[in-house]
Amino acid sequence: MTDFAATKAMFDLPEDVIYLDGNSLGPLPLAASDRVSDMMVKEWGQMLITGWNKAGWMGLPTGLGDRIGRLIGAEPGTVVTGDTLSIKVYQAVASALELCPDRKVVLSDNGNFPSDLYMVDGLLRSLGPDYELRVVAPEDVAANITDDVAVLMLTEVDYRSGRIHDMKALTELAHANGTVTVWDLAHSAGAIPVDLSGCNADFAVGCTYKYLNGGPGAPAFIYVAPRLTDRARPALSGWLGHEAPFAFDLDYRPGNGIERMRVGTPPILQMTALSAAMDIWDMADMADVRTKSIDLTELFIARVEGTCPELELASPRDPQQRGSQVSFRFTEGYAAMQALIARGVIGDFRAPDIMRFGFTPLYIDARDVERAVEILADIMQNRLWDAPEFKVRQRVT
Ligand SMILES: Cc1ncc(COP(=O)(O)O)c(C=O)c1O
Repeated sequence: MTDFAATKAMFDLPEDVIYLDGNSLGPLPLAASDRVSDMMVKEWGQMLITGWNKAGWMGLPTGLGDRIGRLIGAEPGTVVTGDTLSIKVYQAVASALELCPDRKVVLSDNGNFPSDLYMVDGLLRSLGPDYELRVVAPEDVAANITDDVAVLMLTEVDYRSGRIHDMKALTELAHANGTVTVWDLAHSAGAIPVDLSGCNADFAVGCTYKYLNGGPGAPAFIYVAPRLTDRARPALSGWLGHEAPFAFDLDYRPGNGIERMRVGTPPILQMTALSAAMDIWDMADMADVRTKSIDLTELFIARVEGTCPELELASPRDPQQRGSQVSFRFTEGYAAMQALIARGVIGDFRAPDIMRFGFTPLYIDARDVERAVEILADIMQNRLWDAPEFKVRQRVT
């Protein structure tokens, strides 16, 4: 059994804050500051460039990839970290398209994170006018996997509502149609159990600054199914994905296996922080995380609905259909969230009217949920959100 009291003690959570936004940016693992500082002073400072070999910096992208892989049902050697998620989306979709040269359509849904759609739009424009990004409603995805669809690109857990797509069923349907799948796990990795291997997924991507707690700007990851790694040609063919980067050949030859999905120099400071976070994750079992996450979200929904009738549930009511987040609609949701943050309960807001709360069993427990709802109820019942200072829109919502 995962010891959640022990994992909670491993985070640097400010006093008087209940942090319900780990679905957007995870908090600081206590060990990360010393780890990064040591890395800077002892490795960067003393080893200088020899750190790439002596301190094993060059192996960090795949080493971290394997540790993340355990949480998402990926076989060892199939996940590599680096770059940002938007870049990894581009990379995965470009490689997936090349595997289906006779088709020109990428299918996605309008619940997807806009950056995924923007990146594919940019990719397809560079490929030529015959290519099409087809965006349908989430519930219409299955019916739209037609025989012209090269790639199905979906985010498994909807960033606003937390609704989960059925990865296994949709992947099966896609494969029966000759379509390659790209799954975005930004709101899945560390949130719900994922079984990439069992679902026979083709490509998957995700970020490490949300549930995985790697810190702002932490690297993304990409998974390629082992049956495809030697066929998938990287469109972002950087030198560190080359078969022999230090041969400095003028021609690109993709590296072996997942190494080919590397692009350029890895962000070692960020990866060091992420490795401190993964030490905590190494103590966790995703089945335990899921059980506790469902308990927390069920408790939150019941308490909010019992005390705040103005808030309308925007997440699936069935916990099996929901990730590790809960959203409520409220026309003055932005102001209400600002009022909550001023009282130490941190969630976030997604336009036009969604108040979003993330539940992260590694450091949130039932007492935090009860206390957060007491404060929310006070704000709603006494209209404390209705103050000018809570209505000023900030750059990041
Ligand atoms: C589902 C999803 N995909 C893509 C992104 C973009 O990630 P990045 O800013 O790391 O490129 C995000 C960011 O929150 C996201 O939630």
